Amino acid sequence: MKRRSLLLGGAGLALVTGTSALLWRPDVAGGPHNPYFSGLNHLLKLDGPGRPVMLLDLDRVDANIDNIAGSVGPGKTYRVVVKSLPSVELLKYVMARATTNALMVFHQPFLNAIAESFPNADCLLGKPLPVNAVDTFYQKVQKTRFDPESQVQWLIDSRERLLQYQALAHRLGIRIRISFEIDVGLHRGGLPEPLAIASLLDIIRADPAHLELAGLMGYEPHLTGLQATLKHPAVENVLAIYKGFIEQVKLAGIDPDGLTFNGAGSHTLGIYPGDTVMNDLSAGSGVVKPTDFDTYHLTDNLPAIFIATPILKRYDKLKIPGDPWFTQPLQAWDPNRRRLYYIYGGYWKAHMVSPSGTAEPLYQSTNQSPVSTSLNVDLQVDDYMFLRPTQSEHVMLQFGDLLPFRKEQLVDYWPVFKQTG
Ligand SMILES: Cc1ncc(COP(=O)(O)O)c(C=O)c1O
Repeated sequence: MKRRSLLLGGAGLALVTGTSALLWRPDVAGGPHNPYFSGLNHLLKLDGPGRPVMLLDLDRVDANIDNIAGSVGPGKTYRVVVKSLPSVELLKYVMARATTNALMVFHQPFLNAIAESFPNADCLLGKPLPVNAVDTFYQKVQKTRFDPESQVQWLIDSRERLLQYQALAHRLGIRIRISFEIDVGLHRGGLPEPLAIASLLDIIRADPAHLELAGLMGYEPHLTGLQATLKHPAVENVLAIYKGFIEQVKLAGIDPDGLTFNGAGSHTLGIYPGDTVMNDLSAGSGVVKPTDFDTYHLTDNLPAIFIATPILKRYDKLKIPGDPWFTQPLQAWDPNRRRLYYIYGGYWKAHMVSPSGTAEPLYQSTNQSPVSTSLNVDLQVDDYMFLRPTQSEHVMLQFGDLLPFRKEQLVDYWPVFKQTG
């Protein structure tokens, strides 16, 4: 760590300590691992690789998949969000349990990997990719195993992009299926109003040898946390906008039967049982429930991924690099800074979950991070600490193979996707 940032950190800390000490002193917190984490600690000390790992609780994953599939209901397609569950084996597991072959994909290398591993997948792009990425996909895909023409819906958000994709389809001599990204209130781009798709539909209808309409995609995470039902005005607004786009498709003389009308995500899926506007609902993160997904409609889902990392070092007092003057007062003032551990790695997008009650770190390091606790936490070197990722999509890619477990047994090693390829 740089000396300057430590000093600045120290000054900030002294300031915070000085003002808030008058108002508030932390209660003593923390304790031993509960039986769940104590069992995992034991398991990893016996069978783990001795480095930070990403654990996956398969019993909880099962319950979460069943909740999600139950919310989607029998009349609609459950589309599994690949970026949020970035492992072929994990996707296979989810797809088998939920009996779906629909995937939402956001990254060209992942799409090529899926084409290799899921010859029957139905893939909808979740964001509009640069045309060069589409070209790369076609250069790499083995068309004998996977038929892009019938199995991929490319996402189009503008006239310019449609023309680029059309030119590529001409150059490659292929036909591509198009889904329109529509703005149903998120304002993250996409076609802003139903009339905006009219001229694009003309382009598609005029070139049936190269272009075909596959559907619409309208994502609405701005509804997150509203405790909303179908009767909520914000939901009614989203669905009214969505319907307007579907009407525009009909006006163009295109039969909406058989088209994909995709929407939702883990946060909002629980709103739509009973809805008849969308026929295809996405969810990924809710299967593993990182902390960002502790939201209203996922209350019944359970956290199912944990970073587990070994303790490398333990001190029975607070130590701060360079022994600044406030070390002793801080230890005396805050009962949760009387023991100091160093964990293997750190600085992940994650929060410590066991032991509980750890103090805010004074600094973090991706190599070895300090964790301060009360004297109630009595873990030893080589014991493990457990963190919950805030999100799955990026964090799950940082640990090599996932470690799925069931009933305190590691059951397999599941490789994660490569970022390139
Ligand atoms: C277009 C789209 N649909 C759905 C989702 C939902 O994914 P998750 O269920 O993992 O939140 C996302 C997430 O970013 C998205 O961008």
